[in-house]
Amino acid sequence: MDLKGKAALITGATSGIGLAVAESLAKAGVRLVISGRRAELLAGHAKRLPDCVAIPGEISDAAFANDLFARAVAQTGGLDIVVNNAGRVATGPIDEIDIDTVCAMVRVNVEAAFRVAHLAVKHFRGRGSGHLINTGSVLGTKVRAQIGAYAGTKHAVEALSEALRLELAGSGIRITTVEPGLVRTDLHRDIAKKEGVLPDVAEPLTPADVARCVLFALDQPPHVNLPRIMLLPRDQAI
Ligand SMILES: NC(=O)c1ccc[n+]([C@@H]2O[C@H](COP(=O)([O-])OP(=O)(O)OC[C@H]3O[C@@H](n4cnc5c(N)ncnc54)[C@H](OP(=O)(O)O)[C@@H]3O)[C@@H](O)[C@H]2O)c1
Repeated sequence: MDLKGKAALITGATSGIGLAVAESLAKAGVRLVISGRRAELLAGHAKRLPDCVAIPGEISDAAFANDLFARAVAQTGGLDIVVNNAGRVATGPIDEIDIDTVCAMVRVNVEAAFRVAHLAVKHFRGRGSGHLINTGSVLGTKVRAQIGAYAGTKHAVEALSEALRLELAGSGIRITTVEPGLVRTDLHRDIAKKEGVLPDVAEPLTPADVARCVLFALDQPPHVNLPRIMLLPRDQAI
């Protein structure tokens, strides 16, 4: 499969997995629209990567998400790939956790992810092709103590992805959910010190490990779909 000249929108591309996917796709000659809230950081990535446009904003703001999608389509002339990746985490015992932070997480991980999937599928249907990559998690099929709310959001992404796979059979549209275990990224910056929340893994995944899997899914012949790719650090017993 030649990805050269294809067009992709990547949400959550200011850091971590989204940025690594952007870098890999850029190397493969994909034209990019990247998004995230940290505007300066995003603009720097867009300057560095070839054929890349930055559109910063708050993805859980419905007006921004709709506008982002419309501008990405206008900018590229049509999207072939959407990487639905923006996400955040909230952890802690449910009776102690800051419930407003949990609700903000749900708005990004579920509401915005569903909206982006909705927009992507609608757009792909008009073109008769396209590939939606959802960033799920190993916690989309399993749970750990103190991270149940996050796991719930990722279970929701799994449910939507599986239903979409069934709905989209015969449409020319593919959907893949990537399910990483522990990846060393900014996601955990606020919880790294909370005892017992993060799994004890000597060597976590890197964002590049996840990006390699995304490329692998995108690189399949048109008749092949990889609905799920779970990748774990070798020593993560979950
Ligand atoms: N790290 C892991 O262990 C792990 C494991 C499994 C799955 N995941 C999933 O991987 C995805 C990427 O996370 P990451 O680990 O790469 O962490 P990260 O470096 O913190 O990336 C999260 C991305 O989402 C964006 N984002 C967060 N809230 C947003 C909002 N309200 N509006 C717009 N953009 C927002 C962030 O950009 P701004 O901060 O600039 O807005 C950032 O680009 C998430 O869906 C996460 O749940 C991560």
